[in-house]
Formats: sequence, structure tokens, C-alpha cells
Amino acid sequence: MGCGKMERFELEESLKNEIRQSVFGEGFMKIVQSVRRNGKTFKIAMRPVDIGGRRMFQAEMTDEGQVRVKNFDRDGAIEGLEEIIAQRGARDLHLMTSKGDLHLRVTKKGKVLLSRSAEMDRKVVVRPHDRVKNLPLSRFDSAALLRTIGLTDGEGAIRQSMRGKYDQVNEFLKVVGETVGEASQAGKAEGAAFTVVDCGCGKAYLTLSLYSYLTEVLGYSNVKVVGVDKRRDVIDSARRMAEQLDIADKVVFAESDIAVFEPSEVFSCERGERPEIDLVVSLHACDTATDEALAKGIEWKARYILSAPCCQHELQKTLDDKGAFSGLMRQSILRERLCDILTDSFRAQIMRIMGFRTQVIEFVSGEATARNILLKCVWGVKPGQPGTVSDYLNLRDYWRVTPWLESRLGDRIGKLLQRYE
Ligand SMILES: C[S@@+](CC[C@H](N)C(=O)[O-])C[C@H]1O[C@@H](n2cnc3c(N)ncnc32)[C@H](O)[C@@H]1O
Repeated sequence: MGCGKMERFELEESLKNEIRQSVFGEGFMKIVQSVRRNGKTFKIAMRPVDIGGRRMFQAEMTDEGQVRVKNFDRDGAIEGLEEIIAQRGARDLHLMTSKGDLHLRVTKKGKVLLSRSAEMDRKVVVRPHDRVKNLPLSRFDSAALLRTIGLTDGEGAIRQSMRGKYDQVNEFLKVVGETVGEASQAGKAEGAAFTVVDCGCGKAYLTLSLYSYLTEVLGYSNVKVVGVDKRRDVIDSARRMAEQLDIADKVVFAESDIAVFEPSEVFSCERGERPEIDLVVSLHACDTATDEALAKGIEWKARYILSAPCCQHELQKTLDDKGAFSGLMRQSILRERLCDILTDSFRAQIMRIMGFRTQVIEFVSGEATARNILLKCVWGVKPGQPGTVSDYLNLRDYWRVTPWLESRLGDRIGKLLQRYE
């Protein structure tokens, strides 16, 4: 490496031109500048990206830990680079190209120290921004969201360990899109509120992604989302992430058991009147928390309920293992799977009885998660239809169990069943 002295703060014209040519020439990989002022660091990084086959430049600005990401065309990138070059004060600049690295350090006293790596012959890979076409999370500029919720690393790549969650969230959002559709022109103009409750939100991967998807892709202009979880640590970190993304007034979090949560605690409404809930979601809420989410969705008169169940232990405790199925139920894995299938069958049938058009779908591949079943429930059929009730009673009475959701719904379902029992 060679070292040389430059003028106070100002970069020499030849050096500025070298940087310009490197950034807009072949072989550009990345330019990063860190500025330290009053004990704080501001960092800007720019790299080439391929968006829809077009060469763009992605700038990532980090200001006291808060990250903003924006894509620029060539003209925007030229302006951005001129700002980087014109920056005054102490700073570090690192330029990477296929031929090697250039390091600039401007000291507090304004001395410019320049060093270069030995010549290299690196291969440049320009990452497509839209790596997986038509995934909900790639249909808008989701880089800051994905980084904040921890699905991507510092380079914007999906973390290996988070690939399953990334797929789950994408596929869940697809179902949301198919179910609720795009906001109508009238809805967009009026700005009518679209309210969502995420039951058992955990680390808020889905909660925060849902807000962005509904607003930025589906066009809903007034979306309010609440994530509910009984764990304080996840609620605290979810609130911090919403603040970082500057959506904390639209996406709120409640530390609560789903069983006792009421949306009126967080959504303002007239004189204690129950706010209308458009969408209730739950992604892998444990065991009977899924039933609780379904029950709440019914009570809140939700228009749509999308629920991907998780572990299910409740039925296993009560299922009678005598009779023709004893050979199957002796095997714990098969018993568990049978109980999963029966639990979801009961849930689906109960939702139909309660007035929801209900489908059971596989929302994501089995590779992303073995828990890939989703109950898609859309309000709008007459509750308690005889055929639906009798299908449910036949199944329930065959297995001689009372599903947890039936008990939870009490009289609400009881009065619809009793006519046929
Ligand atoms: C397996 S995690 C899934 C989290 C998140 N939905 C996701 O997919 O990443 C289940 C979450 O549900 C929460 N949970 C389970 N039962 C709950 C209940 N009765 N009330 C509120 N939260 C509950 C847990 O605390 C946990 O954070």
C-alpha cells in the first residue's frame, strides 16, 4: 500500500475524477463513507443493483443506528456521489472496484491520507434487487424493513437462518393480497381505516411487513395494525423496530394475552364502541392461542381471519385411543399428526358454522415450515347451516371429544348446535 498527503479536507480534483470514473465505470462494487461528528457516526454506502434489468444504485444511509435505503437512477446517483465527495470534516472513505480498494482518511485537522490496495482482479456480482420475482416483499422498496426486522444482513442478503421466515411471511402476504384485494379507488381516496390485529405477533416479522404491504403494494392509505403478544421482550423490541421504521403511530403493540385483549385498548373509537376489525391474523400462535385468535376474530366481527396454526397439544390429551385406531395412536408421531389434522378439521368446520367461508390451504412449502396449513376464513355465509352443523357433529361425536374452540365459544356456537344434537 502507498500513502500520500493531500490538502485540508478538500480532495484533489484528480482524485475526485478517479472516484467518479470508478463509481460509474465497469467494475464498481461499493463506496462507503463514514463521517464522525460530535461523537456520532453517519454512514452512507452506495452499490450497484439491478432492478428489473436496469442498472440502479442503492444508497444506504445509517444515522445513529437508524437505516434508510433508497434506490437511485444514474442522475440521482451522480448527485449523491457529488455530496459524498464534497463532504467536509473528518471522514473515512472506502471505494471498492474489481481492480482493488482505495482508502481515504481525512483527519480532524483536515489532512487527507490516501492508501491503495495491491491490484486485484475481482469478479463483480451486481445483485438483482428484485431477487425473487413477484414476492410481496420484493414488490416495494423493502430493504429498510427487512434489515430492521432482521431478515437480511448488512449487505441486504436474506440471512440463511431466516430464509424459512422470509418465505413464510412472503407467502402469508400473498394470501392476504388474494383475500382482501387491492384498495378500491374510492377506498384510497376516502382513506377509510383498514384495521388489523396480529395475534401472537412474536418478533413482528409479519406485523410490520403487513403494514408495508397493505400500504405500499395494495394501496390502503389508512392502515392500523396492532400486534399482540404476552411476552414483554418481544413487544419491547417490536415497538423499537416500529419507531426505527417511523411507523410507530400506525403499528402499535400490546403486551397482553390474546384472551383478554380488546382492540378498543389501542384503536380509538367513539365512547367505548367496538372498533370494526377488518383482518385478524395469526402465524404459528402456540396451541390453543390459535383457537383464541379464531374466537376473537368471531367476537370482533372480523371480515377476514387468516390463521396458520402451530403446535397442537390440546386434543392429544383427550383423544380416546381405544378402538380401531389404537394401532395408529400407539405411535406418538402418527398420533400427533392425526391430532393436528383433526384439530384443524374441527376448527375449519366451526368457522363455517359461525358464518365464515373457510378454506384449508397449504400457504407455503413444507421446506419453509412443517406447519404450513392456513385457515382462510372470509365472513359472509349464514351461520348454523344444517349441513355444516351435521358434518361437524358427526366428526366430533365419532371421536368423542369436545374441541377446545367449541368450549371457548360457549353459547355462541351452542345455540347453533343444539337444534341438531
Ligand atoms: C411461535 S411464536 C410465532 C410468532 C410470530 N407470529 C411469527 O410467526 O414469527 C408464537 C408467539 O405467540 C405468543 N403467544 C402464545 N400464546 C399466546 C397468548 N395466549 N397470548 C398472547 N401471545 C401468545 C408467544 O409469546 C410467541 O411470541
